[in-house]
Amino acid sequence: MNQDEQKRAVAHAALKFALPYFDAGAILGIGTGSTVDQFVAALAPHAARIAGAVPSSERTARALTGAGIRIVDLNDVAAVPIYVDGCDEIDGCLCMIKGGGAALTQEKIVAAVATTFVCIADESKRVDVLGRFPLPVEVIPLARAYVARELAALGGRAVWRPNVVTDNGNVILDVHGLHIVEPIMLNMGVTEPAAGFLPGLRALCDEFNALLVFDEVKTGVKIAPGGATEHYKIRPDIVVLAKAIGGGLPLAAFGASAEIMEEINSFRVIHVGTYASNPITLAAAEVTLKEILTPDAYRTLFALNRKLVDGYAAIIRELGMPCYANGVGSMGTINFKKDVIRDYRDWVTLDRRATQAWYLAMLNEGVIPQPPGPDEQWTITVQHTEADIETHLKVFRKVAPLLKSL
Ligand code: 5RP
Repeated sequence: MNQDEQKRAVAHAALKFALPYFDAGAILGIGTGSTVDQFVAALAPHAARIAGAVPSSERTARALTGAGIRIVDLNDVAAVPIYVDGCDEIDGCLCMIKGGGAALTQEKIVAAVATTFVCIADESKRVDVLGRFPLPVEVIPLARAYVARELAALGGRAVWRPNVVTDNGNVILDVHGLHIVEPIMLNMGVTEPAAGFLPGLRALCDEFNALLVFDEVKTGVKIAPGGATEHYKIRPDIVVLAKAIGGGLPLAAFGASAEIMEEINSFRVIHVGTYASNPITLAAAEVTLKEILTPDAYRTLFALNRKLVDGYAAIIRELGMPCYANGVGSMGTINFKKDVIRDYRDWVTLDRRATQAWYLAMLNEGVIPQPPGPDEQWTITVQHTEADIETHLKVFRKVAPLLKSL
């Protein structure tokens, strides 16, 4: 299939997914771009069944009108059950870069109101790590140079997109060279240090001739086959692994360059251990890494995790709860704090009472949402199914009003 055929195919797949929404009288949210144009074309024969659509740009509004679909103002609807849009890049965790078509602000607003986001994208948009496509930022014209300087201070090179004025009368800065990373503190829920932190650390270690050691006990094989090292494309000098690599049996491992390992090889550093190289454990690890954690398994794990995180986010939004859910790879959690946690100082102000109440309330309804404690997070495994995610979310929807009244 060439790219155009793929765009048509994903548009038709989205149409099939959206049909039950039409019949329920839903107002659709519609993104912008050539893939979305295909979706609007696919919608046209069903125009009479569609109650209305909120467009994310003037371009899409024109296409919808041409297809005979009623345009609805976002301010006039209480809910947008489904939003369909394309993207410029999308990774295995379903995080994406948007804005190639300069409609990003309205797209993100309609998407924020929507309960379900259906992303339609051809193969060329799939990446392992976001950032090859420059990150579009919409800026009011007055702030252009200032914002470009601020982005430079963050390590990005902002390029003013020529001859483009957005539907909001603004300009676009395309930011190149940003390291878009999601490093994680997993003993603080799922906390991501500021962008640029890991590259900065690597640079400091190089400057001062220090070894950079990644503790991948929790991230190893859970956020990518190569853990954080692969996910963030930052090469540590030593990596430490455990937990998931043993497939349920106790196993820990470390790896380093040949030069560092020579310290052990030459017996300058002695490495021995009672359980080192246990054959049963190593057989379990081999099966786990080669036969269970396959590329297909990762795709399923990441999609299920995204569904759980998004499902939490939708319920939280609907009820106006002062908390948020986030996740990376196969892991996620709910944070009982309104603002995004960035560091330990933020994290200690988490509402522990609410975390405990959530955990117990879910438990009472038969769902163990994650290990107990606000420092923990859930992990989706190959044993989990769509039905498990739906049950989890159904139970959260039931207990959420109780938590809201805490
Ligand atoms: C517009 C967008 C588009 O969704 C993105 O650029 C993809 O476009 P296309 O479907 O034409 O490849 O973000 O702002």
